[in-house]
Amino acid sequence: MPEASKQATVITVSCLSGGSGKSTTVLNLATMLSGKGKTLAVDFDPQGNLSQWLGWTDLSNEPTIAEAILPSNDRVPITEIIKTPKNENRSNTLFLAPSDFSLAHAADIIAPNPGRERFLSRALKSITDEYQFIVIDSPPSKGILTYNAILAADFLVIPTECTNKGVMGAINTVQLVRELAEIDFVVPHILGIVPTRDQWAGANQTRMSKAAMKALEESLPSIRLFSSLRQSTIVQQTNMAGWSLAEAGETKLSKPYVEVINTVIAKING
Ligand SMILES: Nc1ncnc2c1ncn2[C@@H]1O[C@H](COP(=O)(O)OP(=O)(O)O)[C@@H](O)[C@H]1O
Ligand SMILES: [Mg+2]
Repeated sequence: MPEASKQATVITVSCLSGGSGKSTTVLNLATMLSGKGKTLAVDFDPQGNLSQWLGWTDLSNEPTIAEAILPSNDRVPITEIIKTPKNENRSNTLFLAPSDFSLAHAADIIAPNPGRERFLSRALKSITDEYQFIVIDSPPSKGILTYNAILAADFLVIPTECTNKGVMGAINTVQLVRELAEIDFVVPHILGIVPTRDQWAGANQTRMSKAAMKALEESLPSIRLFSSLRQSTIVQQTNMAGWSLAEAGETKLSKPYVEVINTVIAKING
């Protein structure tokens, strides 16, 4: 584990496909990591699902991450937008940089500025020594917000729905990281893919899920596949409660996230 004085390890969760389990993955990773060290969950999707799951359903009178990435004159220091989850007492180990639809507007404002792909990195720089882990959620499409989320990270996790659309999203995400590297951006290390919404009928994996996993292995042979997250209403319930699957006692369902966290810790420890 890093010393308290060292810089936070930053993990971004991204997939260029909606409904792939990004926000679910951020909620689980951030909540579980907060048991190991002070953790900041950054909601960097204008949909604001992560903020809502952590109890912040109305942010209309609150500054959000949108204000923290604005050009200099209008920028609010990120320390002033950080909140504690409303729905759980997490003993001051889990914090939230929330977002709502105003983040889409912020993306338009920063678009003409030089360095616009690194405004989230800049905002996080001032607090990186205050946290042990920072976990960033991201939007489902290509654009400045997604570039900012990816380029702020040390590690990237790609949750992928077990459908054709999900697989295309994962392939496009890996391609995007490679494109960013080609034009000399420092890109995160891709930790791997978490196949999500893996559907089983009794003891049998459905043909659709099986085909999706095979397509992932064949299309992205160099990328690690973590254990899959099964389709389950329990996931929706824990999301709505702002809980990780682990703290709900769902040991089997939380396996992919335990694997991701163990991999991150092993990489930090060299
Ligand atoms: N394994 C799962 N089983 C059932 N529902 C899931 C599962 N993973 C995610 N969901 C639900 O599906 C929806 C989309 O998931 P979400 O994590 O919000 O994806 P994204 O952030 O990529 O759009 C949410 O309502 C979430 O609660
Ligand atoms: Mg989401």
